[in-house]
Amino acid sequence: MAFTFFFRDEQILSLAVQKLVPLTMGRSNVQILNAGCAMGMETYTFAILLAESMGKFALRNVKIHAIDIDNENVDFGKTVTDGIYNKEHLQRIPPELFDKYFSAFEKTDHFIIRDDLRNLVTFQKYDLLTLKPLRNDYSLIICKNVLLHFHYAQRIEVLSMYHSMLLDNGLLVMENTQSMPEELTHKFKKLVNYAQLHEKI
Ligand SMILES: C[S@@+](CC[C@H](N)C(=O)[O-])C[C@H]1O[C@@H](n2cnc3c(N)ncnc32)[C@H](O)[C@@H]1O
Repeated sequence: MAFTFFFRDEQILSLAVQKLVPLTMGRSNVQILNAGCAMGMETYTFAILLAESMGKFALRNVKIHAIDIDNENVDFGKTVTDGIYNKEHLQRIPPELFDKYFSAFEKTDHFIIRDDLRNLVTFQKYDLLTLKPLRNDYSLIICKNVLLHFHYAQRIEVLSMYHSMLLDNGLLVMENTQSMPEELTHKFKKLVNYAQLHEKI
């Protein structure tokens, strides 16, 4: 099982929301890719942060495509795809957001995320190293704690693929310990000096 948790790297995800929202104004189709989504905690964290920042109406225009190579992660007891998590996985969610977005799932120790957020997300098994672009109209790609598993040459290939999958001025988020390989600095502009948030050039 992959290492991940709700509200991991919240600061960079909140920054991505802040930069993304103005780009989506007036758009009826906003596509986001969460690459290496593991058991969906990152995906739903981002959905919650987005919902906090966007009105319900605008949120309906957003789709989050969550992918991972590992079926065990994507299925995770066949509950992740339904937005259902055991109570112990939800401890890090700020209580007011937990109350707002989760409700008890039947008579178990599981909770289910609100329907409008579940409906934003689709999960799919996919290997990034096949280097087959999924779409070419993403406004944002979140890829955290994944590239570190790849060799340097593979990172360049995957990041080049991300470049081809993003719309002009689309955004790419990586974890803080990752950096853009020098070979690609002409393709991405780093937007802040304290986080790995990049814009497609
Ligand atoms: C450490 S987890 C990171 C999860 C989440 N992004 C986060 O930051 O909390 C890394 C994830 O990358 C996935 N992964 C590794 N290689 C991959 C590949 N070639 N294609 C797609 N996903 C991959 C793993 O299965 C795992 O779920």
